[in-house]
Amino acid sequence: MPTHHSNILITGGAGFIGSHVVRLFVHNFPESQIINLDKLTYAGNLANVADLEGKPNYLFVQADICDAQTLDALFERWKPTAVVHLAAESHVDRSIHEPNVFLQTNIIGTTQLMNVCLKHWGENLSNKLFYHISTDEVYGSLGPEGYFREETPYAPQSPYSASKAAADHLVRAFGNTYGLPFIISNCSNNYGPYQFPEKLIPLCINNLVHRRPLPVYGKGENIRDWLYVEDHAEAILTIFQHGRLGHTYLIGGRNEWRNIDLVRRLCQIYDTINPFGHRDSEKLITFVKDRPGHDLRYAIDPTKIEQELGWKPRTTMDDGLRRTIQWYLDNQKWLQGVVSCAYRDYYRQMYEER
Ligand SMILES: NC(=O)c1ccc[n+]([C@@H]2O[C@H](COP(=O)([O-])OP(=O)(O)OC[C@H]3O[C@@H](n4cnc5c(N)ncnc54)[C@H](O)[C@@H]3O)[C@@H](O)[C@H]2O)c1
Repeated sequence: MPTHHSNILITGGAGFIGSHVVRLFVHNFPESQIINLDKLTYAGNLANVADLEGKPNYLFVQADICDAQTLDALFERWKPTAVVHLAAESHVDRSIHEPNVFLQTNIIGTTQLMNVCLKHWGENLSNKLFYHISTDEVYGSLGPEGYFREETPYAPQSPYSASKAAADHLVRAFGNTYGLPFIISNCSNNYGPYQFPEKLIPLCINNLVHRRPLPVYGKGENIRDWLYVEDHAEAILTIFQHGRLGHTYLIGGRNEWRNIDLVRRLCQIYDTINPFGHRDSEKLITFVKDRPGHDLRYAIDPTKIEQELGWKPRTTMDDGLRRTIQWYLDNQKWLQGVVSCAYRDYYRQMYEER
């Protein structure tokens, strides 16, 4: 029997994956108050959750997970018994140029959040949950063979993945040392609606629309295991309800693509949708100098979550790509808003000028 939580805190709910998770939780737990805490960095956008405004069981709070005082006040007021922690700096390329902010949010922020949980949950740790969302990048790079499994040793290669690995270790350490009831899941690359257009798939869709070059690192031989974001959100819901405390779950779609094949497939599907009469999109593919320390291959063995919790992705790659392209075509305003930062004005209107 899953535990009932009257107040659930979700961090990073104005970001890409967080917005899908918040939406799923608001709909699935009508008896619970869902509190979406987000700092609204460049990656956070309230337009991602605009459809939830006014729902009786939804609340947004703008705050930094590094700000212990504000977290303390929020726990005092709302007494959440479960935390789903997605807030993070998430873009590898940015972490190469600006590592410090990744250490601050991903390591210090995660620790602050756990400190506040322990302070407010005290001795009464039954029916509490700290669910930490992480990435498969903590395991480093695979050669052409083999898969990441729950017991694979950590070997992060970028400042981003190293900061996420540190956070994962700290969550386990807090479990071991203070008894924090935790679960961790590590997921493969996500794609879908509301993804910030600095990441490969939305960046390519945006460039396809504007007939700009589609940049592919090196020879496009790096391999990633792709998952449609709604399938990830459903995996998170399943783990939240049925996952075992102290356990780690790897989430992946058994769906490996070389970058070059993925971008070609994207072009082909874009051309069949044929917006604005565009054709021959593959001609826009341009190879660019590889990123330093670019991991060759990530691939997940999701046997544990499949067999233990019965989760499987529902969306095929072709379907997911078609839905994603169509969403970006239908939401050009969202894209322009994100690119021009106009959503900050939206925020001011919604929350500061009342
Ligand atoms: N995108 C992927 O493919 C992927 C895959 C596996 C795991 N993950 C993990 O999932 C989580 C969400 O990823 P995403 O792609 O949605 O990221 P995102 O960058 O789209 O969103 C991150 C959100 O966190 C918020 N945030 C950042 N710093 C904060 C702070 N100090 N305090 C409060 N809020 C803060 C941002 O405003 C933003 O809304 C991350 O923890 C990431 O490591 C992502």
